[in-house]
Amino acid sequence: ASQDELLILGQTLRLREDPFLVPPEDCAAHDSRGGVLVREGRIAAVGPADALRAAHPRARVEDMGDALIIPGFVDCHAHYPQTGIIASWGKRLIDWLNAYTFPEELRFADPDHARAQAELYLDLNLANGITAACVYCTVHPQSADALFAAALARGLRLCAGKVMMDRNAPPGLTDDPRRGHDESAALIARWHGRGRLGYAVTPRFAPTSTPAQLEAAGALWAAHPDCLMQTHLSEQPDEIAWVRELFPEDPDYFGVYEARGLAGPGAIMGHAIHLTARERAALAETGTGVAHCPTSNAFIGSGLCDVAGLARSGVPVGLATDVGGGSSFSMLATMRSAYEISQLRGAPLHPAQLLWMATAGSARVMRLDDRIGRLETGLEADLVALDLAATPVAAQRAARARDVWEALFATMILGDDRAVKAVWSGGRPMKRPPGA
Ligand code: GUN
Ligand code: ZN
Repeated sequence: ASQDELLILGQTLRLREDPFLVPPEDCAAHDSRGGVLVREGRIAAVGPADALRAAHPRARVEDMGDALIIPGFVDCHAHYPQTGIIASWGKRLIDWLNAYTFPEELRFADPDHARAQAELYLDLNLANGITAACVYCTVHPQSADALFAAALARGLRLCAGKVMMDRNAPPGLTDDPRRGHDESAALIARWHGRGRLGYAVTPRFAPTSTPAQLEAAGALWAAHPDCLMQTHLSEQPDEIAWVRELFPEDPDYFGVYEARGLAGPGAIMGHAIHLTARERAALAETGTGVAHCPTSNAFIGSGLCDVAGLARSGVPVGLATDVGGGSSFSMLATMRSAYEISQLRGAPLHPAQLLWMATAGSARVMRLDDRIGRLETGLEADLVALDLAATPVAAQRAARARDVWEALFATMILGDDRAVKAVWSGGRPMKRPPGA
């Protein structure tokens, strides 16, 4: 049996409690010479390297040296069809959707295009240590088929859904309440629970759905309560004003979703920047999750989300690239951006809070915190070895670090995919160190 055991050695860093609720220094366990034992795709033990070696002498050893072994990154909000239009200049939300996003999404009617982009997207994720994600496809069911098939072939944990839109979008990108419901239901039957896949009911956002479509989405989610539900909330002021015009009967933007059964645990609101006091309280009371999308919020000019305030009030918060409104596939760059936004708000996030959001926080938002997101026995072995000295400048800064947080923080700020030395998904190697 030990033939099937893998022992990954390096520094280990475990976050055992939520650093938004407990002082960050009290949450963590760091071992400068630790190890993670993997058996049958799961974490079988975490402990000191020497003790694990002695107890499991026949395990295959992968020694990552001084690299930091952490859980794989979890991106709780991304649009894989926007891979091709990432880094598009100058527009703000509604114009950006019309000018760049919708024309690109039209191309996903072609299953070959969808397949190629799905493969590219997952390859980029793995290069960056993202081992799980919650993803928007396009309105076309074949766009979801392509992504699910590619993720299944790689054994990845992934949630996704076909976008539902029945107004305020080009004709080639709309469905209708019945069709959106039925096509989504067929995708649930085809993919939900297969391998490590899950379905997310995906009404894009209130402006592109009629009340009837949001109701149909709510009914579908109620019929499949172990699916996720993802949408966008309060990203830019004009969008919020538009929602007020389109839904005059509802109290506010989040109220539009609440009234149609689109709130609660397993619901993921992208952005959630410009909220009223009522909306904040309602997010917390309902247990609705928030995907913090800092690079996107800076890039599209949306604003500074009070993610720490939401977390402290009990809202589950995760970190998200929001590719391609977001400007990077790197969760390190995304943590840097979250840090910069917290500085602009006057309250810098601690590296433990950044790491938590990028792993356990996103896992909780996706209701997968009993399976992924932490270095704990029994969880799936989705792991990253992070090289804290991947470039000369990072190496120099790490050498001056007084503790692991300083060294890790330097790589959050300076790092990119070169710092992601090795990646495992369910214990299987997905990226290997150069030369290995
Ligand atoms: N709101 C509705 N759709 C989108 C999208 O694709 N990206 C972003 N950033 N916001 C949205
Ligand atoms: Zn988005």
